[in-house]
Amino acid sequence: DKGGHRHYMSKEIAEQPTTLANALKYYTENREGQHLLEHGVDFTAFDRIVMVACGTASLACFVSKYWFEQIARIPVEIDVASEFRYREPPLNSRTLALFVSQSGETADTLAALRYCKGKAGMILSIVNATESSIARESDLALPILAGPEIGVASTKAFTSQLAVLAALTLQAARQCGTVTAARAQELSDQLRAVPGLVADALTIAPQIHRVAQQLARFDDVLFLGRGAFYPMALEGALKLKEISYIHAEGYASGELKHGPIALIDEDMPVVVLVPHDAMFDKTISNMQEVMARGGKIIMISDARGLSEGGDGVWQRIEMPAAAGPFAPIVYAVPIQQLAYWTAVEKGTDVDQPRNLAKSVTVE
Ligand code: M6R
Repeated sequence: DKGGHRHYMSKEIAEQPTTLANALKYYTENREGQHLLEHGVDFTAFDRIVMVACGTASLACFVSKYWFEQIARIPVEIDVASEFRYREPPLNSRTLALFVSQSGETADTLAALRYCKGKAGMILSIVNATESSIARESDLALPILAGPEIGVASTKAFTSQLAVLAALTLQAARQCGTVTAARAQELSDQLRAVPGLVADALTIAPQIHRVAQQLARFDDVLFLGRGAFYPMALEGALKLKEISYIHAEGYASGELKHGPIALIDEDMPVVVLVPHDAMFDKTISNMQEVMARGGKIIMISDARGLSEGGDGVWQRIEMPAAAGPFAPIVYAVPIQQLAYWTAVEKGTDVDQPRNLAKSVTVE
């Protein structure tokens, strides 16, 4: 049932204020969820977290690396499961091994989990399918409570994975004493504001639709971001190529001048994810380097960012102002919508893109 939507993907994008609120209620207000976090994971027992996943789930891990390291001060390594499983990475009892999977059946992720058994101190997973192999074989499986995700492109599962990882970060910070009580409260308020901001972000769909009509004409697109917006740029590129078949790449803004700037011309639009935050000026200066070489910028920012840095950009997408480290969750919405509307414009099969399966159960 597409609930009146043309595609499952569109329905699943629209469900995010609800799915996020569900996850946050469960992990931040509900006793059962809090119990899982408080008694299930003792972060003081670990020196590092090794996170392993595939595709979009691995990018959720990558975003959360910024949170765990900055807020809870726990070193995080991330890897895609297909590489991790054959690398023979050293692990010990002070390593927390964390697996993220929507389906809970991804073959490489499951094999990586099995490699960690008896080597890591704890096997923790974050899954949507709680009756899955990955959930069963973990010491503790945390549900993301997103409901069934039918579209091959992961949308609501991605943001719910991020919400659970954010709640885990706050728990880790409390246990490890890395933030003051006042800061913990501020972060938790910012996290609880996310579902409302995601609802606001959904209302700008007409702007994105208009930009997508332009974007659909191009063969190559670059996505740029800094800090936790760097993995969001990777996710933006993955989503676009997956459903619209447009070649897209994500880069850390600061890496631009180390190679990809050579590609810049008027035939390759550059999507810049740049909220008005502490990194704003740095990303804007990277963006200006693109414009100086005739590049077309699609700037996704808030009102303040657009007014301070938006001069001369090709297209603007105005987001609600979202402050703090969890803002990337809100920016998932425009990158999903951009991919969605571009695919619709091109007439591709949005829910069942060619060559892809929802659950990759073979290596
Ligand atoms: O079920 P999983 O979360 O383990 O799946 C991982 C990837 O196959 C998945 O996220 C894939 O990258 C999506 N199609 C991306 O939209």
